[in-house]
Amino acid sequence: MEETPPWMHTEPQPPVDLQVDRPHGARVYDYLLGGKTNYAADREQAEKILESIPSAVASAKENRAFIHRAARHLVREEGIRQFLDIGTGIPTSPNLHEVAQSLDPSARVVYADNDPIVLTHCRALHSSSPEGATACLQADATEPERILASPELHGTLDLQQPVAITLGLLLHWLPDGYDAYGMVRTLLDAVPEGSALVITHVTKDFDERAGRIEEDFKGTGSSVRTRTKEEAERFFDGLEFVDPGLSAPQHWRPGPVRIEAGDRGVLNGTTIPIWAGVALKPAA
Ligand SMILES: C[S@@+](CC[C@H](N)C(=O)[O-])C[C@H]1O[C@@H](n2cnc3c(N)ncnc32)[C@H](O)[C@@H]1O
Repeated sequence: MEETPPWMHTEPQPPVDLQVDRPHGARVYDYLLGGKTNYAADREQAEKILESIPSAVASAKENRAFIHRAARHLVREEGIRQFLDIGTGIPTSPNLHEVAQSLDPSARVVYADNDPIVLTHCRALHSSSPEGATACLQADATEPERILASPELHGTLDLQQPVAITLGLLLHWLPDGYDAYGMVRTLLDAVPEGSALVITHVTKDFDERAGRIEEDFKGTGSSVRTRTKEEAERFFDGLEFVDPGLSAPQHWRPGPVRIEAGDRGVLNGTTIPIWAGVALKPAA
C-alpha cells in the first residue's frame, strides 16, 4: 500500500475563523469571476470595485486567461514542469495544474494562499493526473522562507529543477511597508536557472480610476497598493523577459478568452488595469 505523505491531512482540521463579516480578496475575486464562494461583505466590496474599475469582471477573466497562456508557454516552449502558485485564489476550473497537466501529465503544482477558505476548497478539489502531483499549503506570502521550507513544497517539487513561480494578482495585497521585492527575490534565489516568474499586478497607469481601489480597501483590514509599469518591472530585475515583456494581459500573446455577452459591455470605454509579464532566470 502507498504511504500517505506526512503533509497530507488525514485528521479533521480545526475550525477556522472565516471572517465572513469583512471582505477578503479571494472571495471578492470569486464574485467577480461569477463564483459562489463569497459573502455579503465580499459582494459589497466587489460592487464598490466595479464602480472604481468598471472592467473588473473582464479584468479578472483576462488575468486568468493570461496566466493560462503563460503556463502553456512555459510547459511547451520552456520545458517547465513545476509550478509554485502563491495567492492561488478559490479554485475555478481550469486550475493551473489542469492547464499544465493537459500538456504534460507529469506536471507538479504547489498552491499556497493565506485564506483558510481557499485552502478548504483547494484540499476538497485536490486532484491531479496520476503521473503528476498537486499540494495545497496555507501560508502567507510575507513568509517566503516558510513556504520554501514546507513539507508540502518538498513533497511535491524538486528545487533542483526549474520552477515557475506564479504570483497572479497577489502583490498589490501585501501590507504597506512590506518589502514585496525582497519576497520575490527570496523565492527566485531558491530556484535554479531556467525557472520562471509570472506576475500580474494592478496598476492605475491605464486608468486613474483604478487608484480608487486603494481608497476602497482602507479600513477593511486589507490594504491595496497599485504599481506603475516601472515599479512592476522591478520585480523582474535580473531576469530575461519572454516577449512581449510587461504588457496588459490581453496583449500578452493574445488568445481566445471566454467573456460572456454582458462582460463586453462592462469593458466598453475602459481598460484592463493590470500589468502582466513572464520572465526566465538566466544562468548566473
Ligand atoms: C485576486 S486572487 C488571485 C487568484 C489567482 N492567483 C489569479 O490570479 O487568478 C488573490 C489571492 O491572493 C491571496 N492573498 C492575499 N494576500 C495574501 C498573502 N499575504 N499571502 C498569501 N495569499 C494572499 C488571496 O487570499 C487571494 O486568494
